[in-house]
Amino acid sequence: MTTLRAVPIGVGHYLPDRVVPNSEFMDWLDTSDEWIKSRSGIERRHFAAKGQLTSDLAIQAANMALADAGLQPNDIDAIVLATSTPDQTFPSTATKVQQAIGMTQGFAFDVQAVCAGFAFALTNANALIVAQQAKRVMVIGAETFSRIMNWEDRTTCVLFGDGAGAVILEAQEGTGDTSDRGILACDLNSDGRYNDVLYVDGGVSSTQTTGVLVMQGQEVFKHAVQKLAQTANAALAKVGLGHSDVDWVVPHQANLRIIKRTAAKLEVPMEKVVVTVQDHGNTSAASIPLALSVAKQRGQIKKGQLLLTEAIGGGLSWGAVLIRW
Ligand code: UT7
Repeated sequence: MTTLRAVPIGVGHYLPDRVVPNSEFMDWLDTSDEWIKSRSGIERRHFAAKGQLTSDLAIQAANMALADAGLQPNDIDAIVLATSTPDQTFPSTATKVQQAIGMTQGFAFDVQAVCAGFAFALTNANALIVAQQAKRVMVIGAETFSRIMNWEDRTTCVLFGDGAGAVILEAQEGTGDTSDRGILACDLNSDGRYNDVLYVDGGVSSTQTTGVLVMQGQEVFKHAVQKLAQTANAALAKVGLGHSDVDWVVPHQANLRIIKRTAAKLEVPMEKVVVTVQDHGNTSAASIPLALSVAKQRGQIKKGQLLLTEAIGGGLSWGAVLIRW
């Protein structure tokens, strides 16, 4: 018996040119490089230029992933793009990427699960492949969170950055066991009772404005460590694997302290955790594909290794995806 697997065959990323070190915030905020570094692990982040849109970042990441896979745009059947900072209310940012890269067939749509968006997008893409609705899916996480910051709120505006990452998945026959390459397990969760711990105070049907991000940081922190470990363990358990089987944890990059505590709960040493938060800040749905692409460039992740990705964000929404690279 064979099983269809969604196998990663290309990866790419893009970061806007402008690098903003922690020290820049001290020009107008009561903050310090020391506070930001010690509380979050963040040293710098990238901000999109004026007029540079989420789709512009996504297009660059998509083209790099196509080149990495050695594919042409029309080799892709679907684009699933995770973002909470779309170019416009509609059409989807995914269709703007589809048009810009010259993909004239298939379909494209956005997924919105905030910082957990890439886990939700990967799970959707995996389902499309397993259900034979698409043979190759480009999964993108792309964000311009600098556009929804309250620049007077030192508790949030120092934490986020802009960027994009993309992974191309291809349907390949596997044997059905965990030695197969591809997505082996997905675990998704959300709990709307926590809507108010992390949200944007505007929107189409409420205020007709974009709004700015509001977060109860400590509250989110507490949920994060517990829920990330729970979902990661759930994904492993679905296929009978354990923490010692994992080659790399590729976590959502929000806070180095959350990353370390979650790794400790999972009993995975930090040598096996991909960390990019110091250079990117929290790029929401883009953080995991960015980390994957950077880790590949660094020579950290290699074909055949077992990768455990996990993320949590507004909703609250959280999830994990287990991938044999
Ligand atoms: O990606 C979506 C998920 N989001 C997250 O995972 C974020 C989760 N939360 C966090 O990462 C952390 O809670 C933060 C980094 C946001 C904050 O770290 P914390 O250790 O929880 O700090 P805190 O909120 O308890 O604040 C400690 C102190 C406060 O002062 P007082 O009340 O003790 O006098 C804050 O006002 O630090 C103060 N503070 C700052 N000081 C300098 C808050 N922001 C800053 C700042 N610079 N930027």
